[in-house]
Amino acid sequence: PPEPSPTSLIKCATVDAIASHLKNCKNVLVLTGAGISTSAGIPDFRTPGSGVYDNVQKYLDKYHLQSAQKLFSYELFQQDPEPFYALAREMKYPNANVKPTIAHHFIKLLSDKGVLLRNYTQNIDMLQSQTGIPDNKVFEVHGSFRSGTCMKCAAKLDKTQLKEAIFCGEVAKCMVSVEGNACGGVIKPDIVMFGEALPQDYLCTISKDEDKCDLLVVMGTSLQVAPVNKIPNSVPSSTPRLLINREKVCTNPETYTHMSAPLFFFDHPDNKTDVFMGGDIDSSLTELAKKLGWWEELEKMVGEK
Ligand code: APR
Repeated sequence: PPEPSPTSLIKCATVDAIASHLKNCKNVLVLTGAGISTSAGIPDFRTPGSGVYDNVQKYLDKYHLQSAQKLFSYELFQQDPEPFYALAREMKYPNANVKPTIAHHFIKLLSDKGVLLRNYTQNIDMLQSQTGIPDNKVFEVHGSFRSGTCMKCAAKLDKTQLKEAIFCGEVAKCMVSVEGNACGGVIKPDIVMFGEALPQDYLCTISKDEDKCDLLVVMGTSLQVAPVNKIPNSVPSSTPRLLINREKVCTNPETYTHMSAPLFFFDHPDNKTDVFMGGDIDSSLTELAKKLGWWEELEKMVGEK
């Protein structure tokens, strides 16, 4: 891939260097995960204790499932959609009452300033679109609850119909009438379950974006799930990469068996590309916005939520 312009190289791996670099950027690629929505009240998946995967034991027992991820597997959904629907109702998916966080508004600010290439999000909560980020600037890699599809007649349900369907019965059934009788097929929310293909335009879109990006910002993700976790290793080698996350992830080559896993070099003596901002995402972004001189704008956007 083409090397980014010289202005996109940072001389030292510090937040200040990233902040002044960001002012020259034209194509910031943002990769987000569940960690950017936890302060909105939506649990992430893997944080010990509070993550979804630590709170589904009753479903694993009731439905005799070996792993929490099974609840989100397409194979199980096809056999029996009830476990997923039971969890979705408990998680109050889709939840219109949650509001975007500082992180979502920061991404909107990047878009307003014309420097957001695209936000690839693993989240299904549609919080980016609540901030008004143009749809073509957000790629929902794991789909969302924006709509649902009948697995029998392929009828589409919009967000409102889907929400009613999920919360009205045991399992959302298709009400499209086929010669006078309701189809009765199972409605599947348009999220990407394990074992399902990603949106078909993902690979061509991401490969173009990876080549163009002059800054990669990774926020609120453990980078455990492929192929999204290949993005950090696929941007040009001199493109600065900023990880904003409670803890460092993907820093130890020994812990990653599959070669696709990314690797960050925060602690390497020759590191000139990777910067880590630890702790709470909203605090880190407040600090970064202040360094950029963007905090007043961001605070106003958050205040308007
Ligand atoms: N501040 C900073 N970091 C946070 C915060 C916060 N307020 N809340 C959570 N985090 C961090 C966690 O420490 C963790 O490293 O965000 C990360 C969330 O990781 P996961 O729970 O694994 O979520 P994610 O990476 O989005 O999961 C990816 O896995 O189950 C599948 O399809 C599902 O899209 C999901 C995918």
